[in-house]
Amino acid sequence: MAQALSEIAVLPTTPTITAAEFEAIRALARRQFGLDLKPGKEALVAARLSRRLQALGLISFEAYLDYLAADRSGRELADLIDALTTNFTSFLREPAHFEFLRRSMLPRLSQRRSISIWSAGCATGEEPYTIAMVTLDAANTRWSNLRILASDISNRALETARRGIYPSARVDSLPENWKSRFLQIGCGQWQDHFRFKADVRDLVAFRRINLMESLQALPRFPVIFCRNVMIYFDRAIQQRVITRLEEHLEPGGILFIGHSEGLTGIRHSMDYVMPAVYRKPGALSKG
Ligand SMILES: C[S@@+](CC[C@H](N)C(=O)[O-])C[C@H]1O[C@@H](n2cnc3c(N)ncnc32)[C@H](O)[C@@H]1O
Repeated sequence: MAQALSEIAVLPTTPTITAAEFEAIRALARRQFGLDLKPGKEALVAARLSRRLQALGLISFEAYLDYLAADRSGRELADLIDALTTNFTSFLREPAHFEFLRRSMLPRLSQRRSISIWSAGCATGEEPYTIAMVTLDAANTRWSNLRILASDISNRALETARRGIYPSARVDSLPENWKSRFLQIGCGQWQDHFRFKADVRDLVAFRRINLMESLQALPRFPVIFCRNVMIYFDRAIQQRVITRLEEHLEPGGILFIGHSEGLTGIRHSMDYVMPAVYRKPGALSKG
């Protein structure tokens, strides 16, 4: 009986969140990450953050907010965003985008000394690894030419991405010849998993980049994928992010966004190419 009671005592429960506490977290998440936590999401936010409270041994959101305010390292902020975002993604998501990359962009880029592509909001890595496989599979692409920058705000997602190990079920949709060329079967604790071969992993540089912060240190890219990231942002933040992404596109460069993320109502100078694909005016340089 005593054991049963102690088990009950450690059962995870979600502390209640007051309107003021929710508002404080909402304002912080918007300011720091652009995250738009709509009113009505109180229960969801409380449930997602309750694990952070447990991990820190805190019993209320009031105490959690004090902890956040006192933490100058930024570590808890990073854990907060990890807890609040979902990193859903998949290999070859929106195949038409990769077909467009293969047919319309790669032939124009293949003569370059280097092809750099940015996957902004790469989550657990399926998108940048898909870009790598499509590009390597395309005629004329030399491995030594390809550089992929893959960024996300979530440390947890980036850790998975860097490891490059995925359950077999996740790679099922990939062509068999890609699997044998780019992946190796896991063993030991990684049975039923596949890992990207080291030379594929080496093509992708994973970095933590918050799209809300200055991107000035980044170069311009002929191709940027920023798909299903702006769903987190309100219109004002979407505007800010699109303006920045456009600045980081080369003339003639292509921006891929998510299918549910139209640019209606957002000021930009890009031309619509096809659903969720936009081109910056100008000619793509060959060199
Ligand atoms: C749903 S996933 C999309 C993954 C992939 N692009 C795709 O379409 O499959 C969205 C990603 O955006 C990231 N994200 C959210 N806010 C961000 C921000 N302010 N800066 C950078 N990444 C952010 C999340 O961590 C998450 O991994």
